Amino acid sequence: MQTLLSKASDDIINMACSLLKNGEVVAVPTETVYGLAADATNKEAIEKVFKAKGRPSDNPLIVHISDFKMLKKIVSEFSEDAQKLAAAFWPGPLTIIMPKSDYICKETSGGLGSVGVRMPANKIALEIISKSQIAFAAPSANISGKPSPTSAQDVYDDMQGKIPLIINGGQCEKGVESTVISVLNKTPIILRPGVITKEDIEQVLGKEVLIAKEITEETAPETKVLSPGMKYKHYSPNAEVYLVKGRLKQFADFVNSKTEKNIFAMCFDGEEKELKINSVCYGKEFDGESQAQNLFKILRQLDRQNASKIYVRCPKTTGVSLAVYNRLLRSAGFKIIDLNAEK
Ligand code: TXA
Ligand code: MG
Repeated sequence: MQTLLSKASDDIINMACSLLKNGEVVAVPTETVYGLAADATNKEAIEKVFKAKGRPSDNPLIVHISDFKMLKKIVSEFSEDAQKLAAAFWPGPLTIIMPKSDYICKETSGGLGSVGVRMPANKIALEIISKSQIAFAAPSANISGKPSPTSAQDVYDDMQGKIPLIINGGQCEKGVESTVISVLNKTPIILRPGVITKEDIEQVLGKEVLIAKEITEETAPETKVLSPGMKYKHYSPNAEVYLVKGRLKQFADFVNSKTEKNIFAMCFDGEEKELKINSVCYGKEFDGESQAQNLFKILRQLDRQNASKIYVRCPKTTGVSLAVYNRLLRSAGFKIIDLNAEK
């Protein structure tokens, strides 16, 4: 299949709408990461998404909407908590898990009784949804297991020849996927951290919310998880990634003693001058938003540079940095080197 990579114009938007209507898959920019969009009500279209990504079919997709009329068709209940969250954060990087109606097909929701919905804060994505009147399901537009794509070129690298159209909307503003929160129970629970934090959500709801323990811990293979996506290997570049805890001085001593070929350090801005191996800065130490913007971009860049190992300065586990920590932990396959624990 020929893959057209193009900037958004009226013609391209119209082309995207008719492709979606015809059950095809289109890569679309959002404010978080690029998505692989297909009609959430069309079983064959959704099967094409799973196939293009190589994704296990029990891992449900997020449905993207442009208005509340669409939401009413998709969910069977729009609780008070959900209403408050939608009013505060939509359009924006928050996915709310709610009980589903029969409108979307069961392939979209991976056979679950619930569905994750969000209204993306991206002009191109919103225009396609409202023009086509198609609520599209869209997972991140990467091959399953790879770092999520934050530029159209990243999508092209993974999806060339597999889908007919990739719309280039430039670099994604946020850089990590949406926060996923379930409001199925009285106490909401965050299933995936993002740039909208626990504190942001608690302030809007006026009550405490939980954080799923899988966000920071490895789960045994047989455990039942709240979100199927938690089970799978994720965000991994070809290089082996190690998350390194400790102070800058300890980190510098550790990596500077390494002599292997093609190894890289990912450090915070300004720290590169302390390091004798190749290094890339991925944001300011206490600024999770800047780290989030750069994280996937850099992991993909290091793959293009044939990195064999990447040692990463460990971010904080609070605020937006929790999202960065969560993605890095999975990129690293939970390999942590704690320099504080060593003498
Ligand atoms: O920012 C984003 O959310 C991007 C853009 C394209 O919108 N999309 C995205 O989709 O990250 P995906 O498919 O890569 O991640 C969806 C996550 C998965 O971890 C999945 O398990 C979880 O959301 N999820 C979806 N529906 C769910 C449900 N009903 N219950 C629990 N978890 C759900
Ligand atoms: Mg994904």
